[in-house]
Amino acid sequence: MRHLPKYLSLEEQNQLLEMIREITSDAPLFIPTMPRWGTAFSVRMTNCGDYGWVADKSGYRYQSFHPDTKKPWPKIPTQLLDIWHDLVGEQWRAEACLINYYAPNAKMGLHQDNDEANFDAPVLSISLGDDCIFRLGGLKRSDPTQSFTLNSGDIILLEKESRLKFHGVDRIKPNTSMLLSKPGRLNLTMRVVN
Ligand code: SIN
Ligand code: FE2
Repeated sequence: MRHLPKYLSLEEQNQLLEMIREITSDAPLFIPTMPRWGTAFSVRMTNCGDYGWVADKSGYRYQSFHPDTKKPWPKIPTQLLDIWHDLVGEQWRAEACLINYYAPNAKMGLHQDNDEANFDAPVLSISLGDDCIFRLGGLKRSDPTQSFTLNSGDIILLEKESRLKFHGVDRIKPNTSMLLSKPGRLNLTMRVVN
């Protein structure tokens, strides 16, 4: 996995925040739920792009519209596409950008990003707001894991051998960043879906 600490300046982070506000006014954060049991995630989500990742009783999947409003997802803003092209190159087009919001008690269990049809393209992930303890494992759930802190403005790329590594967020560290107006963390994950 490639970790680019403080890749984004404070100004760039604030621009992204403004952009996320516009996206969520059109495509509000929704509450994803686990397949079958319907237990709510602690993370709130929305998306922009041709496709958005959703989770509900029928499963995990990509779809082209918001699960509550049924409207198509907003377009991926140019600033995000520029970051994608700077780091990933021109050969892949980002088709989905998942926006995760972590309130102070939210976390995300260990998982693989494997709902995409193609694993050759990297997954690009941007952290904004409070720090989090990120956990990275191996290609099997039972492999040893290690944890490290992600700060606001950091980018990570799950690429090549790391593309399908298990990962998750143990917890966030409230009040470690002043970027958001209240404690919490945002994570943007850009992916090629097809
Ligand atoms: C995810 O794996 O979907 C989120 C990772 C993060 O919040 O940093
Ligand atoms: Fe993930």
